[in-house]
Amino acid sequence: MSSSGPRDRSLIERYRKFLPVSDATPVITLAEGSTPLLSAPRLGERLGLNLFLKLEGLNPTGSFKDRGMTLAVSKGLEDGARAVICASTGNTSASAAAYASRAGIRCIVIIPEGKIAAGKLAQAVTHGAQVLSVAGNFDQALDIVRGIVEKYPVQLVNSINPYRLEGQKTGAFEIVDSLGKAPDFLAIPVGNAGNITAYWNGFNEYLNAGECDSVPRMIGFQAAGAAPLVLGRPVKNPETIATAIRIGNPARGDQALAAAGDSRGLIDSVTDEEIISAYKLVASTEGTFCEPASAASLAGVIKKQREGLFNEGDTVVCVLTGHGLKDPDTAIDNGAKVVRVDADFDRVVDTLGL
Ligand code: F0G
Repeated sequence: MSSSGPRDRSLIERYRKFLPVSDATPVITLAEGSTPLLSAPRLGERLGLNLFLKLEGLNPTGSFKDRGMTLAVSKGLEDGARAVICASTGNTSASAAAYASRAGIRCIVIIPEGKIAAGKLAQAVTHGAQVLSVAGNFDQALDIVRGIVEKYPVQLVNSINPYRLEGQKTGAFEIVDSLGKAPDFLAIPVGNAGNITAYWNGFNEYLNAGECDSVPRMIGFQAAGAAPLVLGRPVKNPETIATAIRIGNPARGDQALAAAGDSRGLIDSVTDEEIISAYKLVASTEGTFCEPASAASLAGVIKKQREGLFNEGDTVVCVLTGHGLKDPDTAIDNGAKVVRVDADFDRVVDTLGL
């Protein structure tokens, strides 16, 4: 089974020579990737930066996970897998469920009870995954999943799976392809720390292939209540409104710290207030609706701009990792009030103050 025609534009076909695939790899694709790199002139002017937003929410299941999942599921199928499993704060499960359905294989999802945004859960259950919620957090769910794959013939599709990172590194390729060079800074939210690691790998691979002549400084941001890499120790009970990055013991923490260190970047934290403020700002000034965890990248840029990290006019890319529609409850709780009015022309005009 291969990609079924030119309109599929699978990420694997576009970047085949940089990916660990062969003619024998069945390509399971939903036409992921090729997401816009949107300039953000109003916010950029405010911050004195040449600011861009990488809109990963426009992937087929609404998050960057699809880049990794097309590889993980395709390679799993090539190796004979008949079932995939993941622990997830939501987006990985939505993506795994979608790609598994496309591949015609079973998908098992273990999520932390009560902490998954509504849109993500809706996706997993509708794509037909078997969803179990555990009375614990993501880190505990991931421990259980690691135990299961040791004993049973189920393919792990969390970002511990190296194929996930292979797919996700293409986000870096696309940024260089659109800008014609690497940015000065790449700002990215950090949860389990797979994505920052993947981007760093991608920029370096492109540098070595002569596709760019520099790499960006990698600046990663955790939520203050779930910031093990900033504190230097695991967080037992992580808490944040940005449930996607509510993770206390990131699987790829060491690699994230290495990416920050080797690139002369940093990993810092932003508070829930800073996250929600950036979330509302990017929606109200640039027409871009991302989920709270994604806004951690912009919140971090705003914080670091205040602290003097950037030079005027630096090119900065914020990776907006997931779509705002994933988490309608947070949006409604933090948005403008809806005003109730009778179905009467004069009342409506009156209420609007026109
Ligand atoms: N942004 C969003 C929207 C995410 O869903 C995640 C991770 C991240 C950022 C952080 O990426 O883990 O590679 O550092 N979500 C995972 C999940 C954990 O289960 O969906 P990371």
